[in-house]
Amino acid sequence: MAQIGTNIQAAAKILRNCGLVGIPTETVYGLAANALDTEAVLKIFKAKNRPSFDPLIVHISSLDRLGDFARDVPEQAIRLAEEFWPGPLTLLLPKKDIVPDLVTSGLDTVAVRMPAHPLTLELLQLLGFPLAAPSANPFGYISPTTANHVNDQLGDAVDYILDGGECGIGLESTIIGFPDGEPTVFRLGGLAIEAIETIVGAVKLMPHSSSNPQAPGMLKSHYAPSRPVTLFSDDGLDKLADSAAFLMFSKLYPGIAPERQRVLSVDGSLNEAAKNLFGFLRELDQMPVARIFAELVPEEGLGRAINDRLRRAAAL
Ligand code: TXA
Ligand code: MG
Repeated sequence: MAQIGTNIQAAAKILRNCGLVGIPTETVYGLAANALDTEAVLKIFKAKNRPSFDPLIVHISSLDRLGDFARDVPEQAIRLAEEFWPGPLTLLLPKKDIVPDLVTSGLDTVAVRMPAHPLTLELLQLLGFPLAAPSANPFGYISPTTANHVNDQLGDAVDYILDGGECGIGLESTIIGFPDGEPTVFRLGGLAIEAIETIVGAVKLMPHSSSNPQAPGMLKSHYAPSRPVTLFSDDGLDKLADSAAFLMFSKLYPGIAPERQRVLSVDGSLNEAAKNLFGFLRELDQMPVARIFAELVPEEGLGRAINDRLRRAAAL
């Protein structure tokens, strides 16, 4: 098990010495290493059991640092970063040579974001180098939204977990790139499309390519608990309900013991639902049930990213 605490100096020391640290962000917890040190980055792939073809996001401490790692940054990318950084937005841009190929899986683009968590921003400022950090979960499983989630699954692989409390947003960042100058969303996430469109106008959505994904986070089956997940509207629910747990949007499912259910937001708030999503899925996954039924939420705001995760969790 890892040590959990709020000692930024201790975390910095480990990272300077090629170690791994669990870091809080506003989206989900990350598994961080020095992004410019190939040996350190290799440890991330090992700890997560992550295939080397799945590139990592580079976390920076300010917009001023973007040009150190990315080139040919389009005007629209800068406008988005000015508006939404620090925050749940990752920019996919042509990479500079300083970024190791291991970080980008050999692609000529790099994913960069400035996270909105005070502990992690302070850590990044102290370090002076950027942090490569995927979500701190074994490859394919649900992302962690508390320090304990990280400890439960990767506690033996990390040297320290910086405890920044529960993640405020609860969904991974929205990833946007600009192929041929056209703003294109590659992963739905914690920043709503509607918000992005107020800055750059209509965006193209490409989050569902599953056979030859540009981003393996777009793999059809991902973000999945170990119990099979079935979307709520599917047939046969009544027959299976006795051996199932239920993830509901705003109301309990009638006739099923409340202990076997989680309601994402009794107020019907999509932001609250997003924040609760992964933690509740973990709780249901630990129950002695054969499967999880999950109800889709309204397809707007963060609801789109929630439904994206539920569909991928169900795609086994
Ligand atoms: O909110 C987040 O983005 C969290 C926190 C820790 O920052 N990180 C996160 O990382 O979700 P990860 O590794 O779980 O997901 C990153 C996604 C992957 O699907 C990866 O394939 C994609 O970003 N990605 C990274 N670099 C890329 C690149 N150069 N081209 C295409 N996709 C890329
Ligand atoms: Mg991930």
